[in-house]
Amino acid sequence: MRLVVVGCGYVGLVSGACLAELGHDVVCVDTDAARIEALNAGAVPIFEPGLEQMVGRMLHAGRLSFASAIPQLGNDIDAVFIAVGTPPSKNGFGADLTYVYAVAREIADRAGQKLLVVTKSTVPVGTGDMIERIIRERRPDLDLHVASNPEFLREGSALRDFMEPDRIVLGCNLAAPLKTLQAIYDPITRFGVPILATDRKAAELIKYAANAFLAVKITFINEIADLCEAIGTDVNDVANGVGLDRRIGRAFLQAGPGYGGSCFPKDTAALIATAQDWAVNLRLVETTIATNEARKRSMARRVISAMGGNVFGKTVAILGLTFKPNTDDMRDAPSIGLVSALQHAGAKIKVYDPEGMEHARTMLAGVDYAINAYDCAEHADCIVVMTEWEEFASLNAAQLADLVRTRLVVDMRNALDPEQLRAAGFTVSAIGRPADGRVPTPMPLPASALAEPLIPVRARRRK
Ligand code: UDX
Repeated sequence: MRLVVVGCGYVGLVSGACLAELGHDVVCVDTDAARIEALNAGAVPIFEPGLEQMVGRMLHAGRLSFASAIPQLGNDIDAVFIAVGTPPSKNGFGADLTYVYAVAREIADRAGQKLLVVTKSTVPVGTGDMIERIIRERRPDLDLHVASNPEFLREGSALRDFMEPDRIVLGCNLAAPLKTLQAIYDPITRFGVPILATDRKAAELIKYAANAFLAVKITFINEIADLCEAIGTDVNDVANGVGLDRRIGRAFLQAGPGYGGSCFPKDTAALIATAQDWAVNLRLVETTIATNEARKRSMARRVISAMGGNVFGKTVAILGLTFKPNTDDMRDAPSIGLVSALQHAGAKIKVYDPEGMEHARTMLAGVDYAINAYDCAEHADCIVVMTEWEEFASLNAAQLADLVRTRLVVDMRNALDPEQLRAAGFTVSAIGRPADGRVPTPMPLPASALAEPLIPVRARRRK
């Protein structure tokens, strides 16, 4: 089939390359001419494991090409995917749809007699209606269908998420365009991946609802982690026990410093904006956003208190800066607020991240950049793990112990082995786990457990 994907950002590039891998002929379009030139030479401007190789393979096979303008959309084009960015809008509410609507106008101007337009960008409910209106106003003669086909790609595992998804959502309830979409995904669905065909609005909402639910799930386990620390038990055990319930599942129950990234913060805010437009309260999602923000802010306090309450002039080594491993993305990463709060408190900051250093340089001022984790740890008064990169799990605790000034680790991701660290003389503070040397606050005795009330009822009344 012949497909056009508009937008060569993260979603567009991954989708374009994967659609070509499925056997289709794909043209990916972006207005950034330099980016297009680089892509045609096989240079992929984003870090995503396996993507550059896939793009190279598809270019070589002649199934993928890149263009700086939308081509004429003749009747031989089976579908045009809109995959341009939807950044947070400038007023702070919802998503900015300027690019999406600009593409809709261009598509209308280039279309032949018939066209299937598919939104892949994460767009608020009702955007499909608007796209349809924009195109119809310019081209009332066009045999037009607009469908929603949200993606559920995670940075770092996007290729697998595309090729082996849990489901494919097709927001389109007319037989002809639905058949085309089913044919596009046939190479995936023939192996048993379920297709869910819904109306367009439901498809648009599914994406936001899924992301919001995952954000709630993470925030929930983060709160349970706080409780575990107070009680003096391990959140991983609790998450395992809870996650074994098939109704809940273990995924996304990894306690940490709060979620970040380009999707959860933006999409939860956009969902709230949509709900407000429809005069509906999403209190649970609102609370999740506020709780997560507060958690991210509180991480500096956690480090300062682990360091004895004063970090002035001390050196903190931060391992991991990106919002999660296997990406170079720093957007909304919990490390950003941590660094500035610790600097504010007078600490010197040294950082290391396997892939995020280039972006970090544009975002973090006044920090020292280390060449590897050991270099980062040298003369540190505290090592803080902010991202669970695999290479950190195999760090040699004894070697670290020789390098640091103070043997203290704050592990925000439970990425390191606390026993190995302790054996090497470190004090360890790990999320949702009993802190070293900290006696849990004694549990308040429930009143029902007492044989007699502490204050006789009559005496209390008289007071
Ligand atoms: C997310 C969705 O998972 C994906 O379906 C959607 O298409 C885009 O948004 P992404 O932002 O790439 O993907 O990363 P994800 O793996 O979901 O992690 C998001 C944040 O949550 C990260 O900061 C991560 O560290 C955090 N997280 C995730 C946790 O703190 N605990 C968990 O158990 C899982």
